[in-house]
Amino acid sequence: MPSDKSISHRALIFASLAATPSELRGFSRGGDNVSTLEAFRALGVRFHDLGPEAVRVEPCGLGGLAAPSHDLDCGNSGTTMRLLSGVLAGQRFASRLVGDASLSRRPMRRIVEPLTARGARLRGAAHPTRAGDVTPPLAVEGLAPGSRLREASIELAVASAQVKSCLLLSGLFAEGPTTVTEPLLSRDHTERMMDALGLPIRAVGTVVRLEPLASGAELPGFEIDLPGDPSAAAFLLVGAAVVPGSHVTARRCGLNPTRTGILDVLRAAGARTGITPHGDSLGEPVGEVSAWHGELRGTSIAGELALRAIDEIPIACVLAARARGVTELADLAELRVKESDRLAEMAGVLRAFGVEVEERPDGLRIEGVPDAPLRAARVESHGDHRVAMSAAVLALCAQGESVIEDVDCVATSFPRFAGTLRALGAEVEVRP
Ligand code: S3P
Repeated sequence: MPSDKSISHRALIFASLAATPSELRGFSRGGDNVSTLEAFRALGVRFHDLGPEAVRVEPCGLGGLAAPSHDLDCGNSGTTMRLLSGVLAGQRFASRLVGDASLSRRPMRRIVEPLTARGARLRGAAHPTRAGDVTPPLAVEGLAPGSRLREASIELAVASAQVKSCLLLSGLFAEGPTTVTEPLLSRDHTERMMDALGLPIRAVGTVVRLEPLASGAELPGFEIDLPGDPSAAAFLLVGAAVVPGSHVTARRCGLNPTRTGILDVLRAAGARTGITPHGDSLGEPVGEVSAWHGELRGTSIAGELALRAIDEIPIACVLAARARGVTELADLAELRVKESDRLAEMAGVLRAFGVEVEERPDGLRIEGVPDAPLRAARVESHGDHRVAMSAAVLALCAQGESVIEDVDCVATSFPRFAGTLRALGAEVEVRP
């Protein structure tokens, strides 16, 4: 598996802010993570390759970032932009964050508002369709000399690890505590890494609180073997569940319970799965995960399960397409503001493969086609890596050749996806 994208972003950020060097091993250089790395390089951090999948980080300390000489390009990565904003909001220098066409449409009021409320000075552009919201570019003004960010106590209306992490990171530069309360617990990688690095953070249920750092405090450098990404593994595990005769095992896969909703979905659909825990890495559990092909049945995905599988909904749609009966997906309005409108795009892709889908404001109703092969199709990824990979797995269930257009985006999270599918026996060709 490629290294976990969420954990890799955080490892790059904390290694960049530390006082001493760090080593990140098993780092697979997906496009989104490279955006984070390059942003910190532009802020004065030095990175040295130690072979194809290891990088040494030479940081400049919590107070040592330097003003960038150009815009910080976050590419396709919402996590880069939102987490980096938290760091930049606490600096004395000005900076500007930009992104690609998809990222430039994503809502940013969710971070601009709470950061501003604690004294940060940043602005976005007016959102073209969501009244009152803002989009990138984000212009961050430096803090006035002598001033620091204030305490913050925020209750999020929608659970979001990006917003929570943005605020916690800004809390490293604040004079008072940072408290974030979520309606449900989103992925908690930031909290776990802060705790593993000895920062004064406590999490109880859906409330997390970071105390202000003592003046002159620093973060320690660290070594980490990055866990594999369960969100990437999901494409192959679901692939195994839907393609007759298959069995796939993902080794050294991250098993953080806030991320493993898709394994619960697979089990609820009747798929045979297995998990062997293998210890942990900087506070993150890792292990081996397997899935086998078998008879599947429709299921439902909503509430906290939907949140724990938020990035796996596109591939869960593929599972639903091959399950007997109906699968209902709800509480997923956030999917409309991911890399693409994933509810609309997945409905379109499923229909192209001959699957009946009803689209709802916050979900989908999918009628499975378990007995006959799907119809081969020609579909668009709309620049969304997870839509592209889900379509590829659907294509494995179709009779004849399917074509997925615009697949460069796959490299943002899973650069070796096509090669891995091929190694598992699929016929896949990537055309320029
Ligand atoms: C992420 C959080 C989630 C997720 C995204 C990665 C993170 O987004 O969808 O792919 O690494 O914090 P939200 O926090 O906006 O739900």
